[in-house]
Amino acid sequence: MIRTRIAGIGKYLPGRVVRNDDLQTVMDTSDEWIQERTGIQERRYGTKHQETTTTMAAQAARIAIERAGITPEDIDFILFATLSPDYYFPGCGVLLQRELGITKTSVGAMDIRNQCTGFVYGLATGDQFIRSGMYRNILLVGAEMHSMGLDFTTRGRNVTVIFGDGAGAVVLQPTEEPGKGILANRLHSDGTHAEKLAFINPGAHGGYHNKYLDEPVDYGYGNETYGGIFLTDKMMEEAMTFPYMDGPFVFKMAVQKFPEVIQEVLGEAGVTAADLGMLIPHQANLRISQFVQRTLRLRDDQVWNNIQKYGNTTAASVPIALCEALEAGAIRDGDLVCLAAFGSGFTWGANLLRWG
Ligand code: UT7
Repeated sequence: MIRTRIAGIGKYLPGRVVRNDDLQTVMDTSDEWIQERTGIQERRYGTKHQETTTTMAAQAARIAIERAGITPEDIDFILFATLSPDYYFPGCGVLLQRELGITKTSVGAMDIRNQCTGFVYGLATGDQFIRSGMYRNILLVGAEMHSMGLDFTTRGRNVTVIFGDGAGAVVLQPTEEPGKGILANRLHSDGTHAEKLAFINPGAHGGYHNKYLDEPVDYGYGNETYGGIFLTDKMMEEAMTFPYMDGPFVFKMAVQKFPEVIQEVLGEAGVTAADLGMLIPHQANLRISQFVQRTLRLRDDQVWNNIQKYGNTTAASVPIALCEALEAGAIRDGDLVCLAAFGSGFTWGANLLRWG
C-alpha cells in the first residue's frame, strides 16, 4: 500500500528579532499584556526590500530538498500556502519555482489560500497526488511575510503583536513501509463567520458582503462605472487595508474545533490521544495550545509550542514547529504525529502520520 511520507523538512526564520518591548515603542501595548494573553515574547521580521514570502520559502525549501536527498529539478509539483503573497497574482508557487531555478515546465505549481490551515490543507492535498501516483516529489511550503502588511499603530495592536514572519517546507514522497506515512486527514470549513478574521481591502468585493455584517461598512465608493472599486481613497485614508480579527470570538471557536478535529483523525486511525508521540498545533496562541493539551489530557512532552519565539506565522507555523521538534530530537522514527490548525475562513483540519 502506498502512503505519503515527509522525506525532508526545512525552516527559515529571518534574522531580525522583534521583542515585545520593541513594539511598545510604536504602539500602546506592553510585554506583560502580550505574554499574558498570547505567550509571545518575540517574533521575527524579514528584511524589507530584500526578503519576501517567496525568498523565505526558498530558504526553507532548499533545506527540505537537500534533506530529502534530491535536487530542485527533481520536484514535480509545488504547493504554496500563504496569506501574504508577494503579488496579488501570480501566486507564490511560480515565483518559488523561479527562485529555486527549476526550469522544467512539467512541474505544476499551485497556491493555497487557507491562511492558518494552509499547510494542513496542503499536506492533505499533496497526499492525494502521491497516493494516486501522479507525483513522486512534491514540495509543500507555508510561508508568510506578515510584517509588510500590519498596522503598526495602537489601532492595530490586537492583531499586529501576534504575527511574525517565517517559512517551513517539506518534500513529500511515496512510501511502502508498512504503517508509515500519512494515516488520516480531516478538513473542515464554515464560511458563516468569514469576516471575523479577514483582510478585506483591497479587493473586488465592491461592498457586496455588507449584507453579512452586523453593521454595513462605507468603503468610500463613488459612481464609477468601470474600475475604481478595488482600492478607494477612503480605504487608504481610514486604514481599512489591514487585517481585522474579532479575537475573543476566534478564540472560542478555536478551542472547540482543535480538539474535535484531532479526535477525528485519531478515531479514523483507530488510536487515542494517549498514543500520540507529538501534537504540533498551529501556533495561534499559547493559551489555545494549553487548552487543547488539557482537553486531550496530553503531557507536556506530547505538545510542541514555539509561539514564544516566533509569534503566529500562519501557514508557516506548523512546518516550522514540526521541523524544530524533529531537530530537537523530540520526534523519533515510528512516532505518531498529529498536525492540527484552525483559522480564518473559518477553516480547520488535522493530519495524522506515523513518522519514518
Ligand atoms: O491564527 C489564526 C487564529 N487566531 C487565533 O486563534 C487568535 C484567537 N484570539 C486570541 O488569541 C485573543 O483573542 C487575542 C490574543 C487576540 C486577544 O486576547 P483577549 O484576551 O481576547 O483580549 P481582547 O481582544 O478581549 O482585549 C482585551 C483588552 C481590550 O481593552 P478593553 O476594551 O478591555 O479596554 C483591548 O483593547 O486588551 C486590549 N488590547 C491590548 N492591550 C495591550 C488588545 N490588544 C492589545 C495589545 N496591548 N496588543
